[in-house]
Amino acid sequence: MTDQANAKFTPRVFSGIQPSGNLTLGNYLGALKRFAQKQDEGIETIYCLVDLHAITVWQEPEALKRQTREAAAAFIVSGVDPAKSILFNQSQVSAHAEMAWLLNCVARIGWMYRMTQFKDKTQGKNAENSSLGLLAYPSLMAADILTYHATMVPVGEDQKQHLELTRDIAAKFNHDYGTEFFPIPTPLIEGAATRVMSLKDGTKKMSKSDPSDASRINLTDSADTIAKKFRKAVTDPEPLPESVDGLEARAEARNLVNIYAALADSTPADVIAEFGGKGFGVFKPALADLAVSKLEPISREMARLMADPAEIDRILGEGAARARAIAQPILEQALDLMGMVRSR
Ligand code: AMP
Ligand code: TRP
Repeated sequence: MTDQANAKFTPRVFSGIQPSGNLTLGNYLGALKRFAQKQDEGIETIYCLVDLHAITVWQEPEALKRQTREAAAAFIVSGVDPAKSILFNQSQVSAHAEMAWLLNCVARIGWMYRMTQFKDKTQGKNAENSSLGLLAYPSLMAADILTYHATMVPVGEDQKQHLELTRDIAAKFNHDYGTEFFPIPTPLIEGAATRVMSLKDGTKKMSKSDPSDASRINLTDSADTIAKKFRKAVTDPEPLPESVDGLEARAEARNLVNIYAALADSTPADVIAEFGGKGFGVFKPALADLAVSKLEPISREMARLMADPAEIDRILGEGAARARAIAQPILEQALDLMGMVRSR
């Protein structure tokens, strides 16, 4: 089945974020900001805090609860409106775990071992000693998406391989059961910031799990911290080039230009038109000012929402109820297609 065959499905966006720690500027530009844009385009949008994914590596239980609420707050202040989008945490909708089991029986073990995220997370460690959940992680992700018959999945570049696997699982299910039950979802990897890099190493992704806090901007960082981190960001000593091509072999410079463009809702070419030929002594403070002006209201609003955790829990509960209403019938049909007796 090709993407065209998705025509019979309602256009529907699904995406998720792990509530496994401080959300970063990478999450904001690569995911949250775009989630709000998709919602505002008037497409049906479903956004999920994937707490079941988070526990594939150890999470301190109280911290996980706090981080889940904090991530919900980050969605809301980034413009995801719980009245327009469905916003919920994964573990409150049991269809995800049930569908994941069904897909575990469709997906092949070899597919899981090939995932670069699994390889990265077990690098230098004994892979045999990582959780079984970490290996099966992509099949739960496929379940997240397919349980809603989602057709579009906005993600950052790092999730491309998982999305390809989701498509393979959907296609294998359709083939094995002689049906066109699942759409083949399309990854949406768009914009200047699909891969925000570390401020310390332009070849590494900015990540909430990087041991160096200076490598990332956290959404909860103060204005001073944000400014300091950009000032100290690793770069080469050359001025910015006169054209975008000149960024080609300059990973760190390219990263800062991309961040500026994404924050300013412009393009790298616009940024080069303004700052080409200027040194980092000029560009970094301008970038820091822009970042502070965009991120400070976010951290301020997040703190305000976090003061009322009961309200966040209420929003997540309401989102979960709406999610269940879509997911449960699709799960029922999948069970039926696979030969499970359903007593009604
Ligand atoms: P995670 O934090 O791994 O749960 O990622 C949640 C979403 O943020 C996914 O769509 C990721 O692709 C995206 N994301 C995470 N880090 C980055 C980054 N450094 N640049 C762009 N997108 C990112
Ligand atoms: N694996 C994704 C990440 O780490 C998070 C995720 C889980 C997700 N389920 C999803 C993203 C479904 C998109 C759709 O970033």
